[in-house]
Amino acid sequence: AAFDTVIRRGTIATASETYKADVGIRDGRIVSIGEALTDADEVVDAAGMLVLPGGIDSHVHISQPSGPGIVMADDFASATRAAAFGGNTFVMPYCLQAKGQPLREALKDYHALADQNCHIDHSFHLIIADPTESVLGQELPALVADGYTSLKIFMTYADLALSDFQILEVLAVARESGALVQIHAENYDAIRFLADRLERAGNTGPYFHGKSRPIVVEREATSRAISLAELIDVPIVIVHVSNREAMDEIRRARMRGLTIHGETCPQYLVLTEDDLKDLGMEGAKYVCSPPPRDKASQQACWEGLQQGIFSLFSSDHCPFRYDDEAGKLTPNARSSFRWIPNGIPGIETRLPILFSEGVSKGRISLNQFVALTATNHAKTYGLARKGSIAVGYDADIAIWDPGRTATLSQKDLHHGADYTPYEGLEITGWPIATMLRGRFVVREGKLVGDKSYGRYLSRGKPFKPSAP
Ligand code: URP
Ligand code: ZN
Ligand code: ZN
Ligand code: ZN
Repeated sequence: AAFDTVIRRGTIATASETYKADVGIRDGRIVSIGEALTDADEVVDAAGMLVLPGGIDSHVHISQPSGPGIVMADDFASATRAAAFGGNTFVMPYCLQAKGQPLREALKDYHALADQNCHIDHSFHLIIADPTESVLGQELPALVADGYTSLKIFMTYADLALSDFQILEVLAVARESGALVQIHAENYDAIRFLADRLERAGNTGPYFHGKSRPIVVEREATSRAISLAELIDVPIVIVHVSNREAMDEIRRARMRGLTIHGETCPQYLVLTEDDLKDLGMEGAKYVCSPPPRDKASQQACWEGLQQGIFSLFSSDHCPFRYDDEAGKLTPNARSSFRWIPNGIPGIETRLPILFSEGVSKGRISLNQFVALTATNHAKTYGLARKGSIAVGYDADIAIWDPGRTATLSQKDLHHGADYTPYEGLEITGWPIATMLRGRFVVREGKLVGDKSYGRYLSRGKPFKPSAP
């Protein structure tokens, strides 16, 4: 036969076009898009369905150490299985450098965890926790050349926060090597100051997590991160933006001609800080940073997606079990919000939430959905053959039923967490099958792939390196 598989009669959507055609697949690649393609070993009828590029989630945390006695709820097998059920074919988790640890050593650990243990393809961002001379001078440039072309740095968290001096040093190396830097923008000292005051006043429940890091804390750090990038003249990504003020910093930077990418996440579209208000300790289920804000902030994030201020929509999947002393209820967590591990699960629900709240409710187009969930991630982070339905691309495909309705519920999800913060959310539009390089991973509600099938991919450079 001419093709291994043909997907027939579906409606294809890319970041720019929507049209009806058949997709011919051979050896894991899309080799033909046309009419009446039939000469195939297997013909999949997709009449009435959408044929979209598999989701790329460029911000997920998997098997990442998060503090003493704290264990993440997903390993690579469970996280990528859940991702596949949610219509994804590629994830970019983090490789966390411990203080004093060579980056190669950290990478060895994460590769060992991921190899033969992923249902979909993956690569790693490096978290630079300790920018020593050897990291900056030798390791980082060599790793970027090897295809680890992005990294994340933090302006907050005791073990991770870098000084402005250190941030400038990392940005300078990124500029020279062509690596894209993600910045977690919150003001560490301001958070510490506010958290101390809240604790002294006896305001220690999960609800006060949000009060310890209000919008101004994020806006100031976003502005500072952009200023530091401007000094070095290097592109950056501001990740997990939660509100209008931080978004407007990105907008203004763009107007000055800077390349500042913006990312937002499902929690900032459908959750608010008031969701925690009457929940007592159960509010820990919603504790993440930056925290969800209010309805006006949700509206701002939608505008950011509509206007392209946010070109990336990621999950920031960072799962901890609620009913577990190794998760949200660590021994100290009841004494103060400060000890609740930050992060919420969302790898499986990211695409259904954006499709339903965005496409089905008319806030964004189907093409914007594809750009925000797949194409832009591939382009921004240097994945040449991923993120579109086009000849020559990997056959990474999600088949969606745009009319299928569902109510999000923990009992139907496949992640390792024991709850979803989106319990009860009504969804219209669902990914009914996920194909990775021409092979089905999920089909008709069942896992049909294998955890040996996902591959590690090195990535190209997000931009051309510039001399110092
Ligand atoms: O609360 C969050 N977002 N946890 C994950 C780590 C991070 O900062 O992205
Ligand atoms: Zn590997
Ligand atoms: Zn972060
Ligand atoms: Zn994150």
